[in-house]
Parts: sequence; structure tokens; C-alpha cells
Amino acid sequence: MSFKEKFREGIISAKDFSREDIDYILKKAKEMVQNKKNSELLKGKILATLFFEPSTRTRLSFESAMHRLGGRIIGFHSGDVSSAKKGESIADTIRTVENYSDGIVIRHNLEGSARLASKFAKIPIVNAGSGSGEHPTQALLDLLTITEEGRKLDGLNIGIMGDLKFGRTVHSLSILLSNYDVNIYFISPKELMMRNRDKDFLRQRQAKYKEIEKYRDILNILDVLYITRIQKERFADVEEYDRVKNIYVFTKKDLKETKDDFKIMHPLPRVTEISPDIDDSPKAIYFKQTYYGVPMRKAILAELLSD
Ligand code: NCD
Repeated sequence: MSFKEKFREGIISAKDFSREDIDYILKKAKEMVQNKKNSELLKGKILATLFFEPSTRTRLSFESAMHRLGGRIIGFHSGDVSSAKKGESIADTIRTVENYSDGIVIRHNLEGSARLASKFAKIPIVNAGSGSGEHPTQALLDLLTITEEGRKLDGLNIGIMGDLKFGRTVHSLSILLSNYDVNIYFISPKELMMRNRDKDFLRQRQAKYKEIEKYRDILNILDVLYITRIQKERFADVEEYDRVKNIYVFTKKDLKETKDDFKIMHPLPRVTEISPDIDDSPKAIYFKQTYYGVPMRKAILAELLSD
């Protein structure tokens, strides 16, 4: 089955991807990196971007990708300006918007929202963040960044640090990585460890991972450290957030302990977890990740929406 056929209903979860699927979309995205010229591939197509939660990179890079492929955009950037504010369900919103567009990109605070949307839609749905659940297109662009910045996925030693409980990008990233021969170090305080259901899945896939609390112990063996923000908006208790919010702050001093070709990544937005004085280091590639968002999303939209 081709990628296009397999993902006819859209990009919902990293779990749906085999190694072959990932390699295929990485290849397509690399072609988009090579060929920066705008095209008319999606001329006449309309993409709806339904963002019920805040976004800078994900929404704008999807919209930029659609424009660069000659398509058009409709949508909203907050649940407050849509009929969700009046109490409309996701199902009803989707059954409406599918009449106005050829594909839907959705970000919603409900875990499982994208899967739910895809049950009601006859057009492809792209999960742009489903609560604390998943963010598969971010994980795909993360893999594109790693490989474009000169790394093979097999053999990679990667630290994934921060809010591993609520952070959706790290769920999708570790699931995608479980298709490769990778050593993962999950670094978090006890209360923000990967959830059991995520670890169960990784174990089933026989992924190699360790859970630790202190990153300094392993800095010298890592090829990549992927840092994430503590997800303030997901905490039920503000005091609990305050206790952990500054638990990790990666500094210039830490950078000295790393290998020459070490890379530091972050899906952004960053709050305090990476000190800005390392932004100019060639080891800091988090703004490159933002750059690779567009070619990856062009590749995805081309697969899902072209005739
Ligand atoms: C992330 C998200 O929304 O999950 N941002 C992104 O899409 N690049 C990360 C975050 O909010 O911490």
C-alpha cells in the first residue's frame, strides 16, 4: 500500500508509522528541502487550520507550506472565536468544516481529539497536537532535522528531557524513534516521568530506554539532547508546577561537557530551560527545527491533498 493510501484518513498518531513510512516521508521532505521553489501542486485546494489551543510554529508553518504549494487556507486560531465557545462538539465542527475544505489540521486540548475528528471526517485530518497525547508532525520534523544535520537515526544516543508526562512532542518522538536502533535516556523529575502506557508501548516495540533524573551524568555520551518545556497549562495544581518549573536549565557550562558534534534540540516555545546565551552555538539547532517544519509539512500536505 502506498503512503497516500495508508494515510488516507490523515496523520493521527506516530503509532501508525512503520519505519518504511517514516523513511518515505523523510525522503519526500528532503526533496522539499532541496527544491525550495514554490509550486502549484495544490492549486485549487483548501486547507482548514482549526486551532483550539495557542500555536506559533505549527499553525504558521502549515499555512506557509500550503501557500508555498499554491493552495489556500481557512481557519481559526482560538476556540474562543469558533462555535466551540457556544458549546459545539468537535464532531459537529468537523462535519461542518469538511464541506468547506479538502483537509483539516486540528489542535485541541483533548487527548484523542484528532482520532475522534477523523471518525467524523471524509477528508484527511492532521493531528497538530492532541492535549498531552501526541504531536506526530512535530516528531517527523524533528527526525528530518536530525538527519539533515548530518546524523543517522540508527545508533543515536538521545536524551529526552523535561516534561515527559504532559509533553505531547516527546510521546510522538519516542514512538517514531522506536522504529530505529536508538538508545533513549528519558530525563525528568519523578513526577514528570513518561506515563506507563507510553512506556508499555515502547517496551512492546523493544525500544532501548533508561529513565534518569540528572542529565549531567550522561552529557558526555549523548549525540542529541531534546529539551522540552514544563507544560504549565496541564497542571491541575499551580504549586506543583512551581516546584518543578526550573528543575532543568541547560547552560553554557553544560555545553562544555558535550561531544564536539553534539546537538541540542527543543520543539519550542522555550521558557527558562535553555539559557539564551547558547543560541549562537552550532550545537544549538532548535531554530533549525523551525526551519524544517515547512518542508516536512509541504511533504505531508502534498501526500494527503494532491490528486
Ligand atoms: C509544542 C506543542 O505545542 O506541543 N510546540 C510546538 O508545536 N512546536 C511544545 C510545547 O508547547 O511545549
